[in-house]
Amino acid sequence: MNSKKVLITTALPYANGPLHLGHIFENIMADIWSRSLKMSGHEVYFFCADDTHGTPIMIEAQKRGITPEALIKQIGVEHKHDFVDFQISHTHYSSTHTEQNKQMANLFYNKMKQKGLIHKVTVDQLYCEHDKMFLPDRFVKGQCPKCHALDQNGDSCDICGATYTTRELIEPYCILCKNKPILSKTEQLVFKLNSFRDDLAKWLPEHTDKGTAQKMSSWLKSDLRDWDISRNAPYFGFPIPGEENKFFYVWLDAPMGYISCSNEFFETQNDSYLKAWSPQSDFEIYHFIGKDIIYFHTLFWPALLKTAELKTPSQVFVHGFISINGQKMSKSKGTFIAARDYLNLLPADHLRYYFASKLGTGQDDIDFHLEDFALRTNGELIGKIVNLFSRSFALIKHFNGELAILSESEKQLLKENSKYLEQTQKHYHDRNFHLAVDLIRELTDHVNKYFDQMTPWKLVKQNPAEAQKVLTLSLNKAFQIAVLLSPILPDLTERIFNLYHIVTPVTWNDFFRVFENQKLNSFEPLLGRIEQVLLNQLIKQPQNQTQASTDKSQNQINQQPSPARSSAGLKPEIDISAVDALDLRVAKVIEAKFVEGADKLISMSLDLGPLGTRHIFAGIRPAYPQPEMLIGKNIIVVANLKPRKMKFGLSEGMSLAAGPGGSDLCLVTLLDDTKANPGDSVK
Ligand code: MSP
Ligand code: ZN
Repeated sequence: MNSKKVLITTALPYANGPLHLGHIFENIMADIWSRSLKMSGHEVYFFCADDTHGTPIMIEAQKRGITPEALIKQIGVEHKHDFVDFQISHTHYSSTHTEQNKQMANLFYNKMKQKGLIHKVTVDQLYCEHDKMFLPDRFVKGQCPKCHALDQNGDSCDICGATYTTRELIEPYCILCKNKPILSKTEQLVFKLNSFRDDLAKWLPEHTDKGTAQKMSSWLKSDLRDWDISRNAPYFGFPIPGEENKFFYVWLDAPMGYISCSNEFFETQNDSYLKAWSPQSDFEIYHFIGKDIIYFHTLFWPALLKTAELKTPSQVFVHGFISINGQKMSKSKGTFIAARDYLNLLPADHLRYYFASKLGTGQDDIDFHLEDFALRTNGELIGKIVNLFSRSFALIKHFNGELAILSESEKQLLKENSKYLEQTQKHYHDRNFHLAVDLIRELTDHVNKYFDQMTPWKLVKQNPAEAQKVLTLSLNKAFQIAVLLSPILPDLTERIFNLYHIVTPVTWNDFFRVFENQKLNSFEPLLGRIEQVLLNQLIKQPQNQTQASTDKSQNQINQQPSPARSSAGLKPEIDISAVDALDLRVAKVIEAKFVEGADKLISMSLDLGPLGTRHIFAGIRPAYPQPEMLIGKNIIVVANLKPRKMKFGLSEGMSLAAGPGGSDLCLVTLLDDTKANPGDSVK
């Protein structure tokens, strides 16, 4: 196979606030692609940075009472941290506010000037006589010229969605002093985008998808205007060389961040940005962006790159927007989910799996529907995929973790799964991640079915050799599934690979590994289900808690169901998915004894059939002064409760008990032990 050199970028998030699930969505998409290309042996670089200039950043800094420099520094740290915790594998993450990026902006500007592509125009702009400044769009508010809503921004209306120029606002006022600004003449620098009309018309269909190319081509024909690249002081950005009190508009130096970020990284390899961006380079360059910024990436950006005589992108990949429960993400509606708020409640893996299962190449919006999210994650990821590992590893314990020797025909059988590998690889390559997930699920279903049919949990007693064989085959197939899943769930699969003594990074070829006649590492629980209680908090969490707690485990233990109860003591109504989230199982008590130093606790060892042996602490000592009497009883436990570290050890579940409490308490047991076995689900 030919190894390619690939440079991938995601759009640079603005440094005026926390990352939200839209940013995470885009970066998960690019990350999955990047990881799958690496598994094919390609040389992949994945760059991103914070976009740190412009008025919204000045306004946010002012609101917080700090300088823009302090703001972007603080936000930069938070953004990086969030991306790492979502397992995004940026090769390098930088900022547009660097000396390198300033040089890059100047380099582009000089080329533009040399080629006669910059000219000056005099325009009327709003000026505040009180504050002695020209007012940028975001410093002016007023009535929307279309729907007459009050207090709308200078460039667009939040109520009717209209966009307009500040000069069209009715009754405009300066947001600093509330006075009415006047119109005053000012000179601006303009880039002659229009002279690229023909070039762009040719470029677009080859480097963007059909829809985008069509949309932009019609722009080209009708609406292509020259582009105002300067802003008057005060402005947080790079000063324009040779001009007084003028700064580059944020969208001029923002995309240059792609190049200066690459440069920072390539310099650590004694190279420069030209390695990738020179027109002769053998790199392929891909930008992942949302549909709101197409204009900048498919018109301005290629025009700027052509001006600077640099390589233009191979493809610009455009995606749709994430909505939350069918609604646009919005702080006021409570449908804004900050990346950190999500991480404080749930593991990144769940979201990565969910987004992957929805991702294709289109530009349709994708709904993050909380109920669907819980159902898919609990049903597929945990219920099928993770469960296959849990139950296979639980049973192989009977053989001390040792795998059987496989026959040639059995190995051949494993090899036959390679059709899954070929197709999955292709879907990843085509960015049809949802199809990859479909295939992985299909293979998992096959293996689970095989497992169920062979009943290794019964064979363990009846025919141990056969049980060991079945488990060896299941564990080999489970490994194949982990290889296929690894671009989507890198952390989880890394932990799985370690169980098989495989050190990451893995490549697609690892799919063909066969494990036999060796001992596997001992298993630790991989990943838990989503609890409805936590999910509900995701959209209810008020904004100001964003930075509150970062200790995930602490948080999960402290979560209490809603305290609101009706007068009869009944908890608020729930729907079926909340019930479905509970995994109740039959468990046989193998051992029960007092815990020294805890006058309320009894420690129990439980047999959960195919789920293996568990250990829990229950606060039932006053009710059972002779705990031995519990041995042999079949009780009910919540089997998917996150293991909880207690002073006396780990508690891996919770037993169900009834009664007012104290000595008046009894464990819930089965009426008829002959009809249910340890490990069976309670329905
Ligand atoms: N700073 C510019 C990009 C400069 S690139 C040289 C910007 N920043 S942004 O923070 O507003 O958006 C960053 C990316 O996130 C964009 O690609 C944008 O489309 C994407 N998303 C923002 N909200 C989104 C959703 N709700 N859903 C999916 N992606 C969305 O634009
Ligand atoms: Zn003013």
